[in-house]
Amino acid sequence: MARSKTYADYLNLHELLGLQGDDDELSNDEQHFVIVHQNFELWFRLVLIELRAARTLLLQTTLPEEDVPRIVHHLKRCTEIFRHMANQWKIMETLTPQDFLAFRDGLGTASGFESYQMRELELLLGLETKQRVAGMDPLAHFRKLAKRGGPDAEVLKRLEAEAAMPALGEILAKWLLRTPIQGSLAGDAGDEEKVSEFVDEYLAVHKKICDDAVARMTRHGVDNIEAVAARFSGSHSAATDFLKPDGIVSRSRAGLLFIESYRELPLLAWPRILIDTLVELEESLVLFRTHHVRMVERLIGRRVGTGGSSGVDYLEATLQYRVFGDLWAVRTILIKSDALPELQQPEFYGFA
Ligand code: HEM
Repeated sequence: MARSKTYADYLNLHELLGLQGDDDELSNDEQHFVIVHQNFELWFRLVLIELRAARTLLLQTTLPEEDVPRIVHHLKRCTEIFRHMANQWKIMETLTPQDFLAFRDGLGTASGFESYQMRELELLLGLETKQRVAGMDPLAHFRKLAKRGGPDAEVLKRLEAEAAMPALGEILAKWLLRTPIQGSLAGDAGDEEKVSEFVDEYLAVHKKICDDAVARMTRHGVDNIEAVAARFSGSHSAATDFLKPDGIVSRSRAGLLFIESYRELPLLAWPRILIDTLVELEESLVLFRTHHVRMVERLIGRRVGTGGSSGVDYLEATLQYRVFGDLWAVRTILIKSDALPELQQPEFYGFA
């Protein structure tokens, strides 16, 4: 008679539960430390699966509308996992600094810094080397480890394969490039002029809003008005540089601005949901990092990390990372709906 599959068979539970170390050798606190880490790595594994599924869909030359909800579904699952992981640090914090010191030396130079799934995840999202603390090459340490051969060499191959793939941030920028702006599609005759006209009109309104704000604050007798005026002027220059880097209109950023500005248009409904989802995902990742560093500070203060970094100082610097930088930056330059340039060809956007 065929042996029926058990719960344990299906989940490979015997193998899984044999991977936490020997009960007799590890202290209760160290078992806790290992199990919490393993939990995180399992969640990372699922996040990678979900992000890859989202990427495959996004990579299609033309994105069928019905695939956008699928992409959103995969991304939302990642967000929930990061939110869940951000709370999981609380479990780690049941360890006191002294409890940790009791077995910390045994870690040697092992550190979360060597979490290759985390690096894979950053590469998949599109965190650029130039954005990283001290422009650190994320593969450098793994190249060194790969010399040991075996699984360490496999890890490097995985990371190199990931680095060679288009990242989500890059795919998103290409997708935004195709946004219809004032009814004009990229590649249409006269598209460049139409997009430029939209951007210039937008920037003119933006400037007026900044100037009006300075005038209002002057009337109200705000202190140090020169500094405030310089701040508004700087904001307007930054808006101009964002939309026209090196003086040339970025169609991708103009597309993003268009979606955010006319977000109630039926044709833009899914694009806007996708953008909101990505911002939410990155927010959850930043909060995950934030809670990690506070937990670390609570456990080890400001001492050097087992990986040799400055510890909390290094981790705090990573809180500045933004993969979807444009999605965040565009928020700074948004203006209220009734001040927006008039929408052209509303029928194109399903707004009869
Ligand atoms: C007692 C608990 C923990 C402490 C004290 C701690 C401390 C640190 C420190 C100091 C670093 C900086 C690198 C270094 O010099 O070592 C680091 C990095 C890191 N840790 Fe933790 N950690 C803890 C738990 C965890 C857990 C449970 C995870 C989950 C996988 C984790 C994931 C990471 C990751 C991914 C990095 C790399 C961050 C980056 O480079 O962006 N840590 N950790």
